[in-house]
Amino acid sequence: MNISTISKPHERLADILAPEMEAVNELIRTRMASEHAPRIPEVTAHLVEAGGKRLRPMLTLAAARLFGYPGDHHVRLAATVEFIHTATLLHDDVVDESAQRRGRPTANLLWDNKSSVLVGDYLFSRSFQLMVETGSLRVLDILANASATIAEGEVLQMTAATDLRTDESVYLQVVRGKTAALFSAATEVGGVIAGATEEQVKALFDYGDALGIAFQIADDLLDYQGDSKATGKNVGDDFRERKLTLPVIKAVAQATPEERAFWERTIEKGRQEDADLDHALSLMNKYGTLDETRSDAYGWAAKAKTALDVLPDHEIRNLLRDLADYVVSRLN
Ligand code: IPE
Ligand code: IPE
Ligand code: MG
Ligand code: MG
Repeated sequence: MNISTISKPHERLADILAPEMEAVNELIRTRMASEHAPRIPEVTAHLVEAGGKRLRPMLTLAAARLFGYPGDHHVRLAATVEFIHTATLLHDDVVDESAQRRGRPTANLLWDNKSSVLVGDYLFSRSFQLMVETGSLRVLDILANASATIAEGEVLQMTAATDLRTDESVYLQVVRGKTAALFSAATEVGGVIAGATEEQVKALFDYGDALGIAFQIADDLLDYQGDSKATGKNVGDDFRERKLTLPVIKAVAQATPEERAFWERTIEKGRQEDADLDHALSLMNKYGTLDETRSDAYGWAAKAKTALDVLPDHEIRNLLRDLADYVVSRLN
């Protein structure tokens, strides 16, 4: 592809990193298989063939490339990160009882919850094997911590999401855990394996953290404003799952007593009727909370861009900058 004709930053990054990304995909294909349990390749192929944006492995490759890394451990780390991501998606769709992922029926729907949980565990374990092959304890530390933090974020969300007392600070804690922890680990390990300085590694962490938060806030917006054909997920899922995300948290904070009763019924008690999603949207529009949420996401994107300032002046750094705005404006 001709780089000048590709406008989206993640596509341009994918283009620049194409040979390494192909190596990552090859590694993913070989390591997602299993000789002993046929259900494993069935489920992993279903998810992997559906694609996915491969944002996280791209971040790892990009961070390593930024420092001119000459080796091949970054490919293993990128595959590790995508395996951790894929494992959490399998588990997340069980927890959320979701029916659609990457434009396809979820594994829990096509097979069952047991298959999703167990194949998710298998992918987690495969990710550990891959990261061990790099021989770097520092990298193991970062990715093991990220895995624990993701699980904490998902569990915190489980108890906080249907509780109307959940405020923006708890939401941020959830998002940092379930999503940003893997983004920041992805960028951090790329820098670590390439021998970046501590200041640079910290900058990569800060970039990934803020990018991940911006990304998840945008994802939560898309849940209300997105086009399910583009996102590959259903509109209104978060509301039906009774999940308090930022646009709703902001609307609850300003609710009249009558509106609060509506949120109590639909989110806390989960007694929903057909017209409730439309009413929820009208309340979010009344207080402008979808727009406010978008501004918050752009605020995090700005933080991400600032973090890059101390990194080497490089084409990849500029693309990482553009990526920060793109994750907020994206349609899927
Ligand atoms: C989905 O992540 C999970 C969230 C953190 C919202 P992506 O949107 O990056 O998923 P794929 O890999 O592209 O399908
Ligand atoms: C994404 O969370 C899953 C993880 C980051 C572990 P969500 O439940 O909010 O995302 P989608 O909408 O299912 O992709
Ligand atoms: Mg989900
Ligand atoms: Mg979830």
